[in-house]
Amino acid sequence: MRARLIDGFTDEGALEAARRLRAGDLVALPTETVYGLGANALDRHAVARIFEAKARPSFDPLIVHVGNLEKVSEVAELPTNGVARELASAFWPGPLTLILRRKPIVPDLVTSGLDTVAVRIPGASLARRVLNEAGVPIAAPSANRFGSISPTTAQHVLDGLGNDIDAVLDGGPCAVGVESTIIDVSGQAPTVLRYGGLALETIEARVGSVKQGVRILERPMAPGQLARHYAPKTPLRLLEKGCTFPAQERALVVVAGRAPEQARGYGVTSELSPEGNLVEAATRLFAEMRRLDGLGMAGIDVIGCREEGLGRAILDRLRRAAA
Ligand code: TXA
Ligand code: MG
Repeated sequence: MRARLIDGFTDEGALEAARRLRAGDLVALPTETVYGLGANALDRHAVARIFEAKARPSFDPLIVHVGNLEKVSEVAELPTNGVARELASAFWPGPLTLILRRKPIVPDLVTSGLDTVAVRIPGASLARRVLNEAGVPIAAPSANRFGSISPTTAQHVLDGLGNDIDAVLDGGPCAVGVESTIIDVSGQAPTVLRYGGLALETIEARVGSVKQGVRILERPMAPGQLARHYAPKTPLRLLEKGCTFPAQERALVVVAGRAPEQARGYGVTSELSPEGNLVEAATRLFAEMRRLDGLGMAGIDVIGCREEGLGRAILDRLRRAAA
């Protein structure tokens, strides 16, 4: 294990993470959504190491993280009015990524040569502290190997990437637990590209209806659109309504509410939110998938949830995990 574990609950920890990032190290850091694998976005070598560590195809563009609104304009064009500005003012800092027109300073490796760049001001105060101390924009994908489950604790990061990165800043478990919602505001109509930690309903209540651009593709432009993604090693399936439950060496996950009586036969049962709270279920989703994956069961069955609020992001991740 070569990654150094840095205590994010101390001042020195945040400062060390910032210093290392500025110097070109690969440092995983906690945001409110998932842990990101950070590198100085303006340092090509550091960014190239992200792709190496994740074993990620380099055509997939990265999200650039900054600590405050003034810093956004260093990397992207944020219009002074209109939908983009409205979303930025209403939901940053927070679990929202905006696709904006890029500034030339952003390396092609970060944007995959697109004329747009993904930008986010994270809600977690520790992340913003590090970003503001570092003083440079930080490119950060989720800190997991390509295609696998995103990390929501420092230990998850170490389990997957401990030998390939320089440090992990431990700020405890992530509060939201699924990745940010991505809205493309670079074109004519605002378009959702990924369901995530900010509910679409909340966004639409603010700026009106948003075009649907979430795709599940076999050969996509971006791995977030891949049919199979966010996947455990244990085969996972989403149960249909009215299915019969097998009583075998399988695990059952219930996203919202309690496991039905007829599902007593499962070896292991996990209720993500017995009260049916989708925010709580999202927070626990990835950690539970990892835990169950470690049990070596024959399969994982999942009883899904309503396609609304954070349920959209949860079902999106589960469908890709099941593909
Ligand atoms: O919550 C999150 O968004 C986390 C934390 C660390 O911020 N980050 C994250 O990054 O999930 P990643 O790399 O795993 O997913 C970023 C997604 C990818 O699907 C990528 O294709 C898309 O953002 N993306 C990045 N730049 C883009 C662009 N210019 N246009 C369209 N999609 C873009
Ligand atoms: Mg990812």
